[in-house]
Amino acid sequence: MKTSDIIVLDFGSQYTQLIARRLREQGVYTEILPFNAKLDDIKAKEPKGIILSGGPASVYAADAYFCDEGVFSLGLPILGICYGMQLLAHNFGAKVAAANKKEYGKAELNVVKEHVLFADTPNSQIAWMSHSDIVENLPQGFEPLATSENSPFCVFGDDVRKFYAMQFHPEVQHSEFGSQILKNFAKHICGCESTWNMGSFAKMQMERIKAKVGDDKVLCAVSGGVDSSVVAALLAHCIKDNLIVVFVDNGLLRTNEREQVEATFRTRLGVDLIVIDASEMFLSRLAGVTDPEKKRKIIGETFIEVFDAEAKKHTNVKYLAQGTLYTDIIESSVVGASKTIKSHHNVGGLPDWMKFELIEPLREIFKDEVRQLGLELGLSRDLVFRHPFPGPGLAIRIMGEVNVPSLELLRKADVILRDELKSTGWYNKTWQAFCVLLNVNSVGVMGDNRTYENAVCIRVVDASDGMTASFSRLPYDLLENVSRRIINEVEGINRVVYDISSKPPATIEWE
Ligand code: XMP
Repeated sequence: MKTSDIIVLDFGSQYTQLIARRLREQGVYTEILPFNAKLDDIKAKEPKGIILSGGPASVYAADAYFCDEGVFSLGLPILGICYGMQLLAHNFGAKVAAANKKEYGKAELNVVKEHVLFADTPNSQIAWMSHSDIVENLPQGFEPLATSENSPFCVFGDDVRKFYAMQFHPEVQHSEFGSQILKNFAKHICGCESTWNMGSFAKMQMERIKAKVGDDKVLCAVSGGVDSSVVAALLAHCIKDNLIVVFVDNGLLRTNEREQVEATFRTRLGVDLIVIDASEMFLSRLAGVTDPEKKRKIIGETFIEVFDAEAKKHTNVKYLAQGTLYTDIIESSVVGASKTIKSHHNVGGLPDWMKFELIEPLREIFKDEVRQLGLELGLSRDLVFRHPFPGPGLAIRIMGEVNVPSLELLRKADVILRDELKSTGWYNKTWQAFCVLLNVNSVGVMGDNRTYENAVCIRVVDASDGMTASFSRLPYDLLENVSRRIINEVEGINRVVYDISSKPPATIEWE
């Protein structure tokens, strides 16, 4: 089984995954382990270098996080970033203290020593900072490599032990040459090669899944979206005989969605798809519920119940496979110090009474990487480049109570929006496009008659991973066409508005 080129020890930074991602973009296979990973587990991966991530703690505080000290004696190059830098400094006798001036955002980095770490980058460059502690003196054996206005020891290193430390975050896009610096560390200092790609990732995940699953069975729930389809395709390639793929029609799907899912799995992937029609169960439990979190909880719990009932019909089902992505984990606050924004229903583990173990092969990757993986596995471009659709479905796009008439209205409007975007080429230029039924009535005039009907909101956003988003600058003519068609063709809707909020502070979905 392939081992990692670089191991990132995670001290809780929001950006830890980005470090891995930047390196993977350079073809360097990088894995993340918790900060307190056992030395033997780290050694078992046979890494060529180690990165200590940032994190919210202070190394001098009572609640500081430390890695196994043996990490510093492995004879491997180490790069400390932000908290990781302070940890390295603290470990080698330097003083780390609260800075007089906190430093967040843009800073100018000035290279003071020509060094391979800065190969192919200018001597003066923009770096992105986010810290309130500062390293006050150089630890033993280190020399300064770069400074910033507030950090005389912004980057320092020891070429003998190959230990390097930087106060700024090279992994974020705002650090102009950050990717190059990470690449320099991996390639020139650790000696990694660009051998990794989505094909090797797929192969590695399949080997892992096969080894883990053995003769047991895996239940995989698909929603028709990209993530679960990619997981199912991955499993179908490696453990087809032990795979049970289930699609739950929860009554909250879009027009023709069920038929499309059946065609993809049965025809294209040759999977014996089990379709469970649980729409009545979902809709009856949602009756009268208007609170968004309650809706999400009900839907999440009902899903689990339906899966469990299905699993009981089979023997040896030990695993549940899910298409959880890194962004789902961050936003549901399972890792790090981030706050819960929404309870994504596919995150957070399973209730105690369920005996499944989880298989989540996409846990460490981002949406665009999942798409690459999907293509690698032979899924159609149509499916792979489908806009994301949330697990709770149309329920979180209907403000207030979810019922059959509201769902019907929303479906009709939604299909028009997607049609228009596809026929004008805008569908593939945007991250997500959907309608939200506002359940707000407004007065209109049709023919010579007064109307008092529902308003629909169009939400179309640009994003690269769903963590942040801005509204898409669609041409007015296109918006006008969509609006006219919805109002003319969907009885019960007499007003269309366009959502111009970005995320943050808004979110992509309305609930
Ligand atoms: P928000 O609304 O949080 O959405 O800005 C970010 C992205 O995640 C999708 N989303 C979900 N996906 N289960 C999912 O599988 C969920 O519960 C869920 N909630 C939001 C949303 O459509 C967007 O792409």
